[in-house]
Amino acid sequence: MTKRKPIVAGNWKMFMGPEAGVELSNRLVHTYKSIAPLDVVICPPFVSMTEVGRVIEGTGICLGSQNIFWESNEGAYTGEVSAQMLSGWCDYVIVGHSERRHNFNETDAIVNKKVQAGLHYGINVIICVGESFAENSAGNTKDVVERQVRAAYRGVGHQEALQTVVAYEPIWAIGTGQASTPTVANKVCAEYVRGTLDNMYGHEVSSSVRIQYGGSINSKNILDFIEQSDIDGALIGGASLSAEDFSDILNSVGRHYLSD
Ligand code: 13P
Repeated sequence: MTKRKPIVAGNWKMFMGPEAGVELSNRLVHTYKSIAPLDVVICPPFVSMTEVGRVIEGTGICLGSQNIFWESNEGAYTGEVSAQMLSGWCDYVIVGHSERRHNFNETDAIVNKKVQAGLHYGINVIICVGESFAENSAGNTKDVVERQVRAAYRGVGHQEALQTVVAYEPIWAIGTGQASTPTVANKVCAEYVRGTLDNMYGHEVSSSVRIQYGGSINSKNILDFIEQSDIDGALIGGASLSAEDFSDILNSVGRHYLSD
């Protein structure tokens, strides 16, 4: 089996302005001591990215953006930030988060344009997919997740696909304290996400792309998820707003990687 390097990302959402962001990232840099090869990403709001980027420079912790616009260069798009503007100092971008799909009407087609814009500028894209409570209850998880994966990767080549990460985040598990069951989440990641990538790209790509689970992850349940065959990390909201909690999660993932 391919050993994939774990990746844990903190999505700060609309928390942590510049001052609070610097304080949190400073605490993280002092609290987290890397024990294993592990990709760590923090995604502050745009206004805090420059300052947080300075704090984490040279520490091995990567900077990510929570959003991107699909026009990748410059233009008259009030309020938007392009891939070109983020390239060079931003390593990752989150695309297709359910909060953007639902609050800002981002369709599968928009998500696809954003994926392509990020990849065009060499930014690693974290593509979020996941079903709602109603879709889950109706037994539609497979259809929804497979459709979202297929749409997000439309027109994306093999090499570029290797620059992506998929985050499976069931919407009903986000911020609710009600995480999915690890074995159920693993089935979604293995069969619906990796299986779809296998159909689209073949084994080399599908076995290399890392898949995260997201939704009410904390330092107590992370191990149950990371132990699963097809879960290679986590996308974390609430628990990433505490340097201590986030460090505990990173250390659990690191220890698991070393013992594997
Ligand atoms: P929580 O970890 O707060 O449930 O949020 C998950 C999430 O939406 C990360 O993108």
